[in-house]
Amino acid sequence: MNDQKNLSVSSPPPKRRRRRECLVFPVILLALAFYYALYFLLRGPLPANPQLIAHRGGADYNPENTMAAFRHAVEMDADWLEMDVQRTQDGVLVVIHDETVDRTTNGVGNVGDFTLEQLRALDAGNGEQIPTFEEVIALAKDVNVGLLPEAKSPSLYPNVETEMVNAVVEADYLSQTVFQSFEMEAVENLHRANAAVVACPLYRLWWEVDASAPPGDAPVLCPMAEMLLVNPWLVREAHRAGREVYVWFGVLENPMMMRTMLAFGVDGLMTNDPLMLGDVLNR
Ligand code: G3P
Ligand code: CA
Repeated sequence: MNDQKNLSVSSPPPKRRRRRECLVFPVILLALAFYYALYFLLRGPLPANPQLIAHRGGADYNPENTMAAFRHAVEMDADWLEMDVQRTQDGVLVVIHDETVDRTTNGVGNVGDFTLEQLRALDAGNGEQIPTFEEVIALAKDVNVGLLPEAKSPSLYPNVETEMVNAVVEADYLSQTVFQSFEMEAVENLHRANAAVVACPLYRLWWEVDASAPPGDAPVLCPMAEMLLVNPWLVREAHRAGREVYVWFGVLENPMMMRTMLAFGVDGLMTNDPLMLGDVLNR
């Protein structure tokens, strides 16, 4: 009986509080609209030719990081091939994303514990083999597309940055290559290996980015697209510092997100779906 009385006294909430609650959502929307409108007003001119980068060779269509994927990416009009580079036990640079072969092949174990011959015996999907970095460089050079190799987990492979740079220099393809790494020291090492190297730091969070003084004085910055939703100003800062911005997608990879990134002014987009981005770019 008493409980019922208490309930009827405590509800419903006072009118003023309800009015305040109703205002919260429109005020947030208005603030967001102002935030993005201000950005679009001040962002400056958009890049004339945003680059289509096939992430892991365009992983939505073929087993990722395989020669089949890279060849198909070229057919899908990719300007660049993105790939992940690691090293075998016998010192050969190979193209594979994870530190282990478990997810992408029919084998089990650490990439660095396999010899090239053992790795080549694995099925990387649809009968494809894990390619060597040299093979992918040769393909890129053959069809004249850009090369965007990532030094993946470089701390596991001492000196891998120099070896990657040397492989590209030997193929005489440095001018069409942009190296990448999540490890800022590796970005510095790539640049140290050869002053002509263009290396791009990869960022997951916007506060990691220093657009005015990135590691290795990088001319290209590679943030996760989703972080630009929170802070598009990063693109403007990079452009004002004379640098380009190539984005990669975390989870929100769709046409609306691609259009948003283009409207923010990014210079390149890494995508698992080159055909989708091709449509967005009206190619
Ligand atoms: O290299 C850009 C992007 O590929 C980073 O993410 O994990 O796919 O290598 P991940
Ligand atoms: Ca990568």
